[in-house]
Amino acid sequence: MGKKSRALKAVVGAGAGAIAALASYDLAQRKHSILRNYPVIGHMRYLLEELRPELQQYFIERNWDGRPYDRDTRSVIYERAKGIHGEQAFGTERDVNADGYEWLTQSAAPVPLPDEPPRITLGGPDCSQPYSLSLLNVSAMSFGALSANAVRAMNRGARDGGFAQVTGEGGISPYHLENGGDLIWEIGTGYFGTRTKEGGFDPDQFAEKSQDDRVKAVSLKLSQGAKPGIGGVLPAAKVSQEIADARGVPVGEKCVSPARHQVFSTPTELIEFVARMRELSGGKPVGFKMCVGSRVEVLAICKAMIEVGTAPDFIVVDGSEGGTGAAPLEFEDHVGMPLTQGLMIMHNALVGTGLRDRIRVGASGKIAAGNDIVKRLIQGADYTNAARAMMMAVGCIQAQRCHTDRCPVGVATQNPRRARALDVDSKSTRVTNYQRATVDEAVRLMASMGVSHPSQLTPRMLRRNVDVHESQSYAELYEWLRPSELLNAAPERWRADWERASADVFPLP
Ligand SMILES: Cc1cc2nc3c(=O)[nH]c(=O)nc-3n(C[C@H](O)[C@H](O)[C@H](O)COP(=O)(O)O)c2cc1C
Repeated sequence: MGKKSRALKAVVGAGAGAIAALASYDLAQRKHSILRNYPVIGHMRYLLEELRPELQQYFIERNWDGRPYDRDTRSVIYERAKGIHGEQAFGTERDVNADGYEWLTQSAAPVPLPDEPPRITLGGPDCSQPYSLSLLNVSAMSFGALSANAVRAMNRGARDGGFAQVTGEGGISPYHLENGGDLIWEIGTGYFGTRTKEGGFDPDQFAEKSQDDRVKAVSLKLSQGAKPGIGGVLPAAKVSQEIADARGVPVGEKCVSPARHQVFSTPTELIEFVARMRELSGGKPVGFKMCVGSRVEVLAICKAMIEVGTAPDFIVVDGSEGGTGAAPLEFEDHVGMPLTQGLMIMHNALVGTGLRDRIRVGASGKIAAGNDIVKRLIQGADYTNAARAMMMAVGCIQAQRCHTDRCPVGVATQNPRRARALDVDSKSTRVTNYQRATVDEAVRLMASMGVSHPSQLTPRMLRRNVDVHESQSYAELYEWLRPSELLNAAPERWRADWERASADVFPLP
């Protein structure tokens, strides 16, 4: 062998050794999920990010602007999750004169920041175990849609940050329980985890499981903004032993969530069922989640509360802009009410029927930053939940492959090899960091608006450009009902829906 070829061999050998060493390091490190799943080659992402963000966008995140969360929002979530403050240099990139641009009003006399962010109490007069809830919580995402490690990281993050995790309709899995974070147990049309052999609701299982101390509240899922009016199917191949155990269904058989509930078929029966669940749970807060279909439907539910003489402890309004693990495009893009409208309808209907004081209203749908929280509080919410932002806090890069089981960062997959890339220790800290920084920013925004508690927020504090020269506040743009106004004399624009609404039937719009 000549001198040259020996030298070449040595260089190649050294290069191969370096690559092998880098690959071993990537596989062993716990900070970057993408490197654990794509050793060596995954560095391209970070290299391009260093060189020029635009290059990264071109090569790796093509069409980024068309994805649900824009680059700025994603960066803020990542930075906050990593404990970096997430400030931006140089000023806004938004067109502040654009039609429809919305902003919050600041005060000439901001108030001091409170020592702790405000919390709200879930639990109306019929609840004997009220729960103190944060302004921002982990929205419903099932084990099945999420990997075990993602569920664990979110739960531990919730425990350390003092907020709640909604289980998702797949029920309570062992991964929801391991770390002891507060849970809101979600029950959907499949009644997973509290299901009879025939697929109905099993009151005995429910009574037993809801006693668990980690279950702080129960949420009945009526519908979800990203796919309202349809159920869901978990394909037979994904129904592993542990998913079957969590859901109470046979292994390896297709697992169907029907489109509608069996336990009620009228608004009255819905409210009676909520009251029954509260009783079975020993008086824990019980509520429901829905994407608003129509105002008349909401009014029918309010009438049922009045007739039955009880009410849910909370209602979560989910907007059509909300996320999902999988849904047909037709439903994602064309069905269901956006959060702003649904939330204001729910809030006003409850105010107008004199029920608002006893029910807390939650909001979900693309909540990611402090301004989203404050905006939703002004529009009528008491608290918020976020799903995809929490996924990003545990490392989601918005690859939009959740439905293929090929999530590159181990967040939305049941493939154990991929899921192992998600390091629970570091990612749970990120969930805690992200939630805390976001709530802190919401509180700081409120302080800058002269408000020391969310109850002082008014619709005058949120404004929208109606053309290039003028803006109007939400107080001017929308009709806000006075307490019990519908019971006394329904205003003109509400009258037809109010008269048509009946507690005995879910009406067509
Ligand atoms: C991966 C994934 C799984 C979800 N699973 C559920 C579920 O089991 N039950 C439910 O009510 N909503 C589910 N959702 C919807 C969210 O809880 C929430 O309503 C909606 O995504 C709004 O939150 P976002 O816009 O912050 O993502 C899921 C969303 C995602 C992204």
